[in-house]
Order: sequence, then C-alpha cells, then structure tokens
Amino acid sequence: MEPFATYTRAFDHVGVIGTYVDLSHRRQGIASRLFKATFKVAREKGYKKIFTFTRADNPAALATYLNHGFCIIGTAQKQAKINGKYVDEIIVEKLL
Ligand SMILES: CC(C)(COP(=O)(O)OP(=O)(O)OC[C@H]1O[C@@H](n2cnc3c(N)ncnc32)[C@H](O)[C@@H]1OP(=O)(O)O)[C@@H](O)C(=O)NCCC(=O)NCCS
Repeated sequence: MEPFATYTRAFDHVGVIGTYVDLSHRRQGIASRLFKATFKVAREKGYKKIFTFTRADNPAALATYLNHGFCIIGTAQKQAKINGKYVDEIIVEKLL
C-alpha cells in the first residue's frame, strides 16, 4: 500500500492498495490474510480509507475486493490499454 498522493497533505488519510498472489497459490486465502494484516497496519499508520482500481475484465479481483468490504464508487472509462484495446477500470474504496 502507498499514499494516494504526496504533493499535498490533503490526502494523507488515503492509501492506494495493490494485491498480487502467485498464480499457483490462489484461492487458498492468501489475499484474505494479506488484507487483514494490511488493514491493521494501515489503521495504525493513521489511514482512514483505502482506494484502488481494478480492471473491468478482472472479475476475480473485483470479487476479492468486494468480499473484503470495498464498495464500487465508479468506473474510469478506457483507463487501461491492453494489447491495443482499451479497458475500463472499476474504482473501489473502503473506509477503515
Ligand atoms: C485477486 C487475487 C489477489 C486474489 O488472491 P487469492 O489469494 O486467490 O484470494 P483469496 O483466496 O484470499 O480469496 C478471498 C475471497 O476473494 C474472492 N475471490 C478470490 N478469487 C476469486 C475468483 N477467482 N473468483 C471469484 N471470487 C474470488 C472470494 O470471495 C474469496 O473467498 P472464498 O475463497 O472463500 O470464496 C488474485 O487472484 C490475484 O493476484 N490476481 C491477479 C492480480 C490482481 O488482479 N490483483 C487485483 C487488482 S490490483
């Protein structure tokens, strides 16, 4: 997890998260354990909110975030370009 922005103090309470589990170890609860540890440390560091994006063509990632208390707050259209094709990104957040 990293700060949402560093050019102002206004977003100091917002962190951005990225999650990756090796392909050979998925669906074994590793992301759930990572989230639990990350939320605890984030609260201790003073974060009040976690914010992130997940590609619209990645239902597993969206399901994982929703399963851990994130809410969908919008869609960034044509946010990623993968193999020459635009893909939307779903914006999610979780208040700690
Ligand atoms: C998303 C990702 C991090 C999940 O990691 P994981 O260790 O497999 O997840 P967990 O085993 O802890 O699963 C926790 C819950 O998330 C949901 N979930 C996870 N993978 C899912 C899938 N393929 N389909 C549907 N739901 C899924 C389920 O609700 C699951 O609970 P359950 O197993 O009791 O049903 C992993 O698939 C990954 O690394 N994907 C590639 C990177 C990525 O897309 N990252 C997110 C965007 S930054």
